Order: sequence, then structure tokens, then C-alpha cells
Amino acid sequence: MSKLNIRNHPKIDNVFISGSFENPKLYTKNLVPGKQVYGEKLIKRNGKEYREWNPYQSKLAAILINQPKTNFLKQGKNCLYLGAASGTTVSHFSDILENGVIYAVEFAERSMRQLIQNTAERKNVIPILGDARHPIEYAKNIFTEIDLIYQDIAQPNQAEIAVKNCKYYLQDKGILILAIKSQSIDSVSKSKKVYKEEQKTLEKGGLDILESINIHQYAENHLVLIGRKKPI
Ligand SMILES: C[S@@+](CC[C@H](N)C(=O)[O-])C[C@H]1O[C@@H](n2cnc3c(N)ncnc32)[C@H](O)[C@@H]1O
Repeated sequence: MSKLNIRNHPKIDNVFISGSFENPKLYTKNLVPGKQVYGEKLIKRNGKEYREWNPYQSKLAAILINQPKTNFLKQGKNCLYLGAASGTTVSHFSDILENGVIYAVEFAERSMRQLIQNTAERKNVIPILGDARHPIEYAKNIFTEIDLIYQDIAQPNQAEIAVKNCKYYLQDKGILILAIKSQSIDSVSKSKKVYKEEQKTLEKGGLDILESINIHQYAENHLVLIGRKKPI
């Protein structure tokens, strides 16, 4: 069998690809060599260990496969992650942002226990048991400026929750990545209408929408909005 040609992603720091750029497989370099987080494949090449990154298991991978125009992933950036679950995507953020900090908020205690176990050796992840609807409650856990908010929580008022967190934590010109599941908001309305309403809420809340990315192929009924906080 031919060896995978794992190489730098041409546009994104600390993300790696094999195959063609148009139809790539994605990887991140494992910050904790030898350790899997969710059963992902570990691959050794030239003294480095890579973790395979499946777009069906992580919406962030699905976003990158769709080649966003906004380059929001950079080493050293600090990220507030809302809806961390057991840490699948958080762990890839941790590999990519390296010296940046990921504040990983999750309100389900069971998921939080798994998140703590899964990220115990990752020094740049701070798990926070908290409810994203009440951002002030976790303020004492956040001690750096936030460059990026990533939200994936499947709640009915997703955009409103994102706006609250952006107002409270995101620095001016910081980036919001919001995964919207249309059926969490309204199972009857047409998806397009739901996405439009959510976009309006973000705009009214002080964000410029830079792009929208349809990831239905990997996550049913999901659209991702990428916004930038307007300076006040
Ligand atoms: C779709 S899962 C997230 C998957 C995760 N982003 C990943 O890719 O690994 C949604 C998570 O959001 C959490 N969640 C939902 N509402 C929340 C809230 N208000 N505050 C914090 N977490 C919440 C759920 O408990 C669940 O673990």
C-alpha cells in the first residue's frame, strides 16, 4: 500500500492534509503523542504523530473541507468554545492553537467528566462546567482576551446566546464561528428562513457576517455562520 503523503495545509497553520487539496483528508499534529481522544487513527511520519480528523465527527473539520475564505485558525489565538461535549473538536483546536488557550464550556456533567479525562494532558485546554446562556457565570475562569468564539450547542436561541458571549468576551474584530442546526430552533419552519433569522440576530448584536458555509453533507441540517465583531 502506498504511504500517505501528509503535508502542511496550504492555507492554515498547524493543519495537515493528504490526498488532493480539493478533496483532502485532514490531520492535526498530536500535542500528546500516543494518546487518542475519540478513537481517531494515529499516524507516525518523519518523527511526528498526526491524528486523523473526520468531518463527520467534527464540524470544524467539515468547515475546513469547505475551504472558508476567513483564516480564523492561527497558532497562539485564544478561543472560547461553547458546547465542548467530550472534547472531540476541542482536542483538534488544542493541537492547532498550540500556545493559545481553549476555554471549553459544557453544561452536561457527564460530558464534562469525559472532557476533563480527555484533555487532562493538554495544558492549553481549560474545561469549564457552565451554561452558555449565562456568560457572566464563567467570567472568573477566563483570564486572557478572546480572539475566537466557536459555538456548537444546538439550542433554540443559538444566535442570541452567541451574541451575549460575543458582547461579554470577544475582542473587537474577533471572530465568531456559529454552527446552526435549523431543527433545534424550529422544526416546522423552513431551514433557510431559520438561518436568515439567526443571521439577523447576529447582525443586530454587532457582528458583520463574513460568510456562511453549508455543511449538510457532514452534519444534517447544519449551516455555519462566520462573523466578525464590529469595533464599538
Ligand atoms: C453537538 S454537541 C457538541 C459537539 C462538540 N462541539 C464537538 O464537535 O466535539 C452539543 C453540546 O452542547 C452542550 N450544550 C447544549 N446547551 C448548552 C449550554 N447552554 N451551555 C453549555 N453547553 C451546552 C450539550 O450538552 C452538548 O454536549
